[in-house]
Amino acid sequence: MKLATTHIAVLLLISILMMGCRGQQTENPPIAPQQNMQFQERFNAQQENPFFENNMSMRMPVEGTIARGKMRDNPTVYEGVDDEGNYVEENPMDVTKSFLYRGKERYDIFCQACHGGTGDGRGIIMTGQYGYVPAPTFHRSASYEMTDGEFYSAIANGIRSMPSYATQIPVEDRWAIVAYVRALQRSQNIPEAELEDYDIDIAELQEEYQARIAREEARAEAMAVDEEEEVSAEIGEALYTRYACNTCHSVDGSRLIGPTFANLYGSERTFTDGTSQIADEDYIYESIVDPSVLIVEGYDDIMQSYDYLSESELQSLVEFIKAQSDN
Ligand code: HEC
Ligand code: HEC
Repeated sequence: MKLATTHIAVLLLISILMMGCRGQQTENPPIAPQQNMQFQERFNAQQENPFFENNMSMRMPVEGTIARGKMRDNPTVYEGVDDEGNYVEENPMDVTKSFLYRGKERYDIFCQACHGGTGDGRGIIMTGQYGYVPAPTFHRSASYEMTDGEFYSAIANGIRSMPSYATQIPVEDRWAIVAYVRALQRSQNIPEAELEDYDIDIAELQEEYQARIAREEARAEAMAVDEEEEVSAEIGEALYTRYACNTCHSVDGSRLIGPTFANLYGSERTFTDGTSQIADEDYIYESIVDPSVLIVEGYDDIMQSYDYLSESELQSLVEFIKAQSDN
């Protein structure tokens, strides 16, 4: 009996001691009583290997062979372009109902968080003000005019500041998403006459819609009440980063996706419609809340409206941009 207690005490001591060893740092190699195949001769990537004539340990693929799954000889399917390298107009896949549903499922997983469930650009990440570049709505003419191939390319290669989703989304699913986004676009643009063919109560939907708008307006008003807030270029500078303006606009004169803010204030701007004007406070303010009205020459109409910012935030941004000018 005595012996058993001692045994137990010793075992307990050993296990406590062993637990105590975990988490300690040491420069020594680990002790491996049972080595299995942990240590064996091998070559690291790019290492020299005198066994071969060219001294390379990494071998080239045998000429004329293609690894399984790498046979990508159809540019229409894999890159969304035709033989001349132009984006294809139409989805090369067979767009069936189940294919569309697959697209919906994938869209909801990979795109919805930013582009919104209906494609209106109001995904949860955007409304949460996490400082992301705003995702555009798909319900605007620039997006309607994009071909299926361009949409495919946006997923495969990324577009401007949006990264590529190629590693997460395989080729066929990308096309399924393209098909679904097209369906989303159509769904928001059904003529009233066609709507009447469906079994829905339009008046009821309109009422619901009006009620929602009223609720949103009431909420915006409630939020706007205590807005006797400070306006300054310093606050503007913080907002410039928080709302990701810095992704597209530099302050050091370099060209990013949009024009630089350096010396913008007071300079003459030329627009794609052929008109021009001096960038005063009003112009800068309007450029932030209504960026699609005047498009600076040499740039694309891709900036999203920031009309959801508070009045003082907008003013601070204007002050910040003014501060980037010597004149
Ligand atoms: C993390 C947020 C995010 C996710 C997720 C995301 N996007 Fe985007 N997307 C953006 C942003 C931001 C832009 C605007 C980029 C810019 O203008 O610099 C954009 C732009 C686009 C455009 C260009 C639209 C236009 O009118 O110029 C397309 C097309 C697009 N995204 C498709 C998709 C698809 C399809 C998915 C899902 C596979 C997706 N995006 C997922 C953020 C996102
Ligand atoms: C996705 C990129 C993008 C983001 C993010 C963005 N912009 Fe822009 N912005 C542009 C582009 C492109 C233009 C030029 C085309 C145009 O006039 O719409 C532009 C134009 C402007 C102009 C007019 C510039 C000129 O040279 O006349 C102002 C001012 C401006 N943006 C302010 C802002 C502010 C403030 C923010 C952040 C709250 C912001 N932008 C976020 C892309 C962006």
